[in-house]
Amino acid sequence: MCPDVQPIGEPAIVPTAPRSRRQFLVAATVTTAGLAVGACTSKQPSHPRVVGPSAGAVGQAEAYRRRPGAPIREVALTAAPVTIDLAGRMVTTWAYNGSVPGPVVRPRAGEVLRARLDNRLPEPTTIHWHGVALRNDMDGAPGMTQPPVRPGGRFTYEFTVPDPGTYWFHPHVGLQLDRGLYGPLLVDDPAEPGGYDREQVVVLDDWTDGIGPSPEQLQARLAAQGGMMGQGNMGMMGQGGPDASPVLGGVGGQIDYPLYLLNGRPPADPPTIPARPGQRLRLRVVNAAAETAFRLALGGHRLTVTHSDGLPVAAVTVDALVVGMGERYDAVVTLGDGAFPLVALAEGKRGQALGVVRTAGGARPAAAARPGELDGRLLDLGELRADPRVGLPARRPDRTHRVVLSGGMMDARWTINGRTFDDAIPLEVREGERVRLVLANQSMMFHPVHLHGHSFQVQVQTQAGAGPRKDTVIVRPMEQFAVDLLAANPGQWMLHCHNLYHQQAGMMTTLSYIR
Ligand code: C2O
Ligand code: CU
Repeated sequence: MCPDVQPIGEPAIVPTAPRSRRQFLVAATVTTAGLAVGACTSKQPSHPRVVGPSAGAVGQAEAYRRRPGAPIREVALTAAPVTIDLAGRMVTTWAYNGSVPGPVVRPRAGEVLRARLDNRLPEPTTIHWHGVALRNDMDGAPGMTQPPVRPGGRFTYEFTVPDPGTYWFHPHVGLQLDRGLYGPLLVDDPAEPGGYDREQVVVLDDWTDGIGPSPEQLQARLAAQGGMMGQGNMGMMGQGGPDASPVLGGVGGQIDYPLYLLNGRPPADPPTIPARPGQRLRLRVVNAAAETAFRLALGGHRLTVTHSDGLPVAAVTVDALVVGMGERYDAVVTLGDGAFPLVALAEGKRGQALGVVRTAGGARPAAAARPGELDGRLLDLGELRADPRVGLPARRPDRTHRVVLSGGMMDARWTINGRTFDDAIPLEVREGERVRLVLANQSMMFHPVHLHGHSFQVQVQTQAGAGPRKDTVIVRPMEQFAVDLLAANPGQWMLHCHNLYHQQAGMMTTLSYIR
């Protein structure tokens, strides 16, 4: 018997007809006990075979998701240098199709997305489709699922988009995300339940490119000085002090960005979101920042949170919510009459991003507007419950991995289980298993932990049901909790902190399917 695999004792369920992703997830709770025993009785139990991105199992999982005759949605994305206007300041950066954020990519669930990437950057790049349970070889993980696309090169991503929701895309090479390379990916639900009259994507970002130090300079300073900079010097932040955030359990970050953007615009030139009084506006919020969590509120309104990381939750109404790097939340607001500040405060930092929701004439809110809702009732992760349509079936885990997050602001290394990515020990799983990850933060900074290719369910122990399905979750300093997932998407998947500078300093490992 394998030491790490318990028999599951459930009958295998063999799908007989094309199904939705959700049905697939449920159906894929097949027993793998036989497989596991087979692997254990082989001659080399310590060298199990890795299910690589071009393994047959990857194609099979995709074939299972793909409906015959599924429409193909084509998009062309060119990554290239561009000059943008930040409230009158002309700044050169890198972006997709000449704009920050990049274009909205909008397939329907069940369609095949065919995205041609043209790399006109001076560096190799890839595109990662953050949050999408896609085929492994289209995941954009350089050196793991594909070689990076060289300057001047092209690559076509093609995959079935299984689940509706708010996702996004960005490069997965170096510090490119801290430039303007990101865009929203909205997957429409053919059976959209509605409950809103209009919608607006809200993409948040921390900005330094062309204004403050370059991302490379920031990284070098973090590395050279072990993260502890002279107070307020060179765009770097001190530890704790007045900036500490109770919500994040400590500092908001180590970099004090010169600007924060909402849909590519600074507070001095905020975007206007037009609507009519009484309309229900669905906000689809994406945090595309490299190093900043945001606290979001709309002056004069409450936010009814309906989705976390694209997937539905039982609705919760709050005044404000904190969105970590890589996270998404959808919230519906019923609009009053006037011009209201949509504020995204850089949590635990100085500065904010701003938009204006306008349903009537009247003065534009000030760039520094601080609506009282920011200090009102805040969304707590522990109160979110997955909508029953997306909850995982109750089941004991077949396998548990501890994921210890450590490192320090005095140290240039950030690690998972004591190791940086270059010598990480992969977290092994087998297809069909229920896998539990125990996320344990043993450092003094928060980490938004992101898993590729899957969404997990946060394990909350109350009678009110299980926690939200997510693909990115904030783990606060010294906090520990479990997330469960169904290993139903074979391949090699990155698991990392979505603080770009932590990821680059080693806080990344692999969730590795083995046979
Ligand atoms: Cu949004 Cu591996 O990332
Ligand atoms: Cu981190």
